Amino acid sequence: MGGGGERRIRTQHEKGKGTARERLEQFLDEGSFVELGTFVQTGLSDASSLEIKNPGEGVVTGYGTVNGRQVFVFAQDFTVAGGSLGEAHAAKICHILDLASKNGVPVIGLNDSGGARIQEGVYALDGYGSIFSRNTIYSGVIPQISVIMGPCAGGAVYSPALQDFIFMVSGTGNMFITGPQVIKAVTGETVSTEELGGALAHNRTSGVAHFMADDEAECLQQVKTLLSYLPANNMEDPPTAEPVEPGFEREELVGIVPENPNRSYNVKDVILRVVDGGSFFEVHRHFAENAVVGFARLGGAPVGIIANQPQVKAGCLDIDSSDKISRFVRFCDCFNLPLVTLVDVPGYLPGVEQEWGGIIRHGAKVLYAYSEATVPQISVILRKAYGGAYIAMSSRSLGADYCLAWPTAEIAVMGPEGAVNIVNRRDIEAAEDKEERRRELVDQYRQKFANPYIAAARGWVDEVIDPRHTRIYLLKGLEMLREKRDQRPMKKHSNLPL
Ligand code: HXC
Repeated sequence: MGGGGERRIRTQHEKGKGTARERLEQFLDEGSFVELGTFVQTGLSDASSLEIKNPGEGVVTGYGTVNGRQVFVFAQDFTVAGGSLGEAHAAKICHILDLASKNGVPVIGLNDSGGARIQEGVYALDGYGSIFSRNTIYSGVIPQISVIMGPCAGGAVYSPALQDFIFMVSGTGNMFITGPQVIKAVTGETVSTEELGGALAHNRTSGVAHFMADDEAECLQQVKTLLSYLPANNMEDPPTAEPVEPGFEREELVGIVPENPNRSYNVKDVILRVVDGGSFFEVHRHFAENAVVGFARLGGAPVGIIANQPQVKAGCLDIDSSDKISRFVRFCDCFNLPLVTLVDVPGYLPGVEQEWGGIIRHGAKVLYAYSEATVPQISVILRKAYGGAYIAMSSRSLGADYCLAWPTAEIAVMGPEGAVNIVNRRDIEAAEDKEERRRELVDQYRQKFANPYIAAARGWVDEVIDPRHTRIYLLKGLEMLREKRDQRPMKKHSNLPL
């Protein structure tokens, strides 16, 4: 029970870190933890001669409850051989993953490890492989969550990366394939561990992690909050809660979105006014902020919210926001969470960097994710919905079940300014007052094309609604789609653009 001994526990505390058992105690409902594999020892045949004695093999495994719901857990014990992963350590984790999958229960791993146990060589590497293959096979069956509370280096990072969500603790959690010393030796770059692979680096820059917290207590609380939106497995519906009104006057929805399509606003102000009060839980908050994704409840039932954020890069789709949206849509589809998409998108971000970076490849993921999804899909076009981005953001053509639009919606191949510059170029050039003529043509275009009524006339928009009624339309729409069943052709698996 004492892990690697008092001295190492003291060192762990001095770093602001808890021990594996302290963390599990903090995370699980009081008295609910049941340990498995307490007496497992290294399988190395020469272990006794090497006097290797690693209590619990450097990982505490078992099960317990979070807010009364069962979870399987493992917590690497840094006080025992630096939480390094050997054959028996890996076998303990694999057993937990197998049990979690067979019983249809989420698995949460608290990572704090020096990586592959050097003394165990290829045994350790094989252990990682066994974990990776289970993470992959159980993906979409049970939620798999990684919490990074210490080092997570080298190939070890790929188990968290194969799972659904990564949480990181600022200052102590870090992830990288090659550390600062190797980078210095190979490329000459100087970078600190925190800068390279800390919580901020992975939440804001790389997008590897989805959540960050200032300390372990906050981080574990975030994991509990996430679990409150998720079903235990892919065969269950997400857990419901008591419905809560948003706590804002619905009148406020009228003033948030400026009619001028070039003026920005914060789409989170819209989200907060349509979902159940206090229920919006943002995912990937610091990454690709031109898109907003997160969980919320509507009438007590969890949903996935996806929105463009006009406040950042005008809400356009680019490489990172495409990855962010498509990954989130696919997660929701795996676990029976209906999708609610709020659209205000001017198009894809232009630029050589984007084209060469593969915006075609990454943008395709959004089309793919929405097209493949069989959960209920509701979209609300708030304002701009231009070109391919209109189609990508949960349009009827990709499979949205219920498409709503505010009167301010502009659905067109491109924005009025761009369109008249192309279609009416000669007309504008011939005019005496070019600016005046351009303005006239832009107005004409807006009236003729940039409104929701052409799409509504064809049934691609089901209803043009008063913004104040958005929540009620969403609630009714979700109720209408509650028993939705949709099938896809039988196949081995799809070939998602990557
Ligand atoms: C065996 C290890 C170990 C390891 C740490 N320890 N890492 N033992 N194998 N990989 C032991 C130390 O010997 C020490 O033992 C104790 O853990 C604590 O380590 P310290 O170095 O004292 O702690 P700290 O100063 O906090 O530094 C932590 C660290 C450092 C940054 C993680 O230990 C480190 O750099 N370790 C090696 C990291 C690494 O390169 N791992 C391999 C990654 S590649 P005592 O007895 O003194 O307490 C990999 C491949 C995976 O993992 C491939 C998957 C396909």
